[in-house]
Amino acid sequence: FAAVDVIATKRDGGKLTPAQIIWTIVAYTRGEIAEEQMAALNMAIFLNGMDREEISQWTAAMIASGERLDFSALRNPAGARMPTTDKHSTGGVGDKITLPLAPLVAVFGAAVPQLSGRGLGHTGGTLDKLEAIPGWRADVSREAMMRQLSEVGAVICAAGGNLAPADKKLYALRDVTGTVESIPLIASSIMSKKIAEGTAALVLDVKVGNGAFMKTEARARELAQTMVALGKDAGVNTVALLTDMSTPLGLTAGNAIEVQESVDVLAGGGPEDVVELTVRLAEEMLEAAGIHGADPAAALKDGRAMDVWRRMIRAQGGDPQAALPVARESETVYAPADGVLVGLDAMAVGVAAWRLGAGRARKEDIVQAGAGVRMHAKPGAVVRAGEPLMTLLTDTPEKFQGAKEALEGAFTIAPESSRPANRLIIDRI
Ligand code: URA
Repeated sequence: FAAVDVIATKRDGGKLTPAQIIWTIVAYTRGEIAEEQMAALNMAIFLNGMDREEISQWTAAMIASGERLDFSALRNPAGARMPTTDKHSTGGVGDKITLPLAPLVAVFGAAVPQLSGRGLGHTGGTLDKLEAIPGWRADVSREAMMRQLSEVGAVICAAGGNLAPADKKLYALRDVTGTVESIPLIASSIMSKKIAEGTAALVLDVKVGNGAFMKTEARARELAQTMVALGKDAGVNTVALLTDMSTPLGLTAGNAIEVQESVDVLAGGGPEDVVELTVRLAEEMLEAAGIHGADPAAALKDGRAMDVWRRMIRAQGGDPQAALPVARESETVYAPADGVLVGLDAMAVGVAAWRLGAGRARKEDIVQAGAGVRMHAKPGAVVRAGEPLMTLLTDTPEKFQGAKEALEGAFTIAPESSRPANRLIIDRI
């Protein structure tokens, strides 16, 4: 094949053959297709799409570019088989759900191999959050991962370089060529990594709203349906929830402050929306893994999930009892008027937390553990002019200005009779 012919096929709205797709992914991963040619092909796919068969081939080729984990032999110390189940969120602001969820699901005998990433841009990364815990390490060898899954039931760690390496290269290219927001490319990117990770069951939390990749319900639904079909075709029992990301999850967006909020949830408290989504995703993950009749809400209340959390953190060198880092400086943002807070813009809060130092603009940037945004009111709350709405946290006070600019117009305060239309869980696919 010649790369230029593959590009022209897609440019002209044609369908790529399986052989063309396999050749393209293999040659690109080996460095035999130039970046500018792959960029052109990505743009042609962005504009003209791919059909179900093409997406499926594209995903399979990306999986085949690296190693594929296999947990089918996993047993607990008593010798019982452990079904694997995992969750993936398409990314949002204040989305710390993985932290309480992985240990909660492990309480019921499932194994949760949660291979996670770091944050880039306005959405946070699970590993960045956990790295706020003194001593905790994201890098875990394959052997240590298997042992931890068997003995503790949950591991949250870095994915490592060899799962779908084609995606790693391709995602970096998409990031700088305006081709991220394509449903075929997002679906194949996410699912290639999740299928290569080897989980038997998968629950997708597909975010909808202006803090998410997918701004509209119709686009999010199409992404969810595409990913569920890819999972099922690969033999992974896959379901998706569409959930709201027009406003942040919980009352914190940052790293250490999100860990603290997760620990509050594991202690039986925490914000209602975080608890609701954690419990619902746990139910879905357990059902998908064939574990029926579990009561995850009870395991948050009675300390069982907290026990697994502590063992999971300790197994990776962390001290679950240690004090978390605190930002050196803080500034308060006050409510400009009386009324009901009906909107709190997820994207604005995400950008503010990022600018305060909680996130990174380039991969090599270092995040501040203590930085972020603590919210004092969520949509639905009655607020009074001059009351604190948020606390901005950072070690570097020159960052306050940029954060405040990001938050301009971020809250909508309406007359007291108004009610926000907030449905956290929108649909199940
Ligand atoms: N997350 C991914 O892993 N890939 C995408 O393409 C988008 C979000």
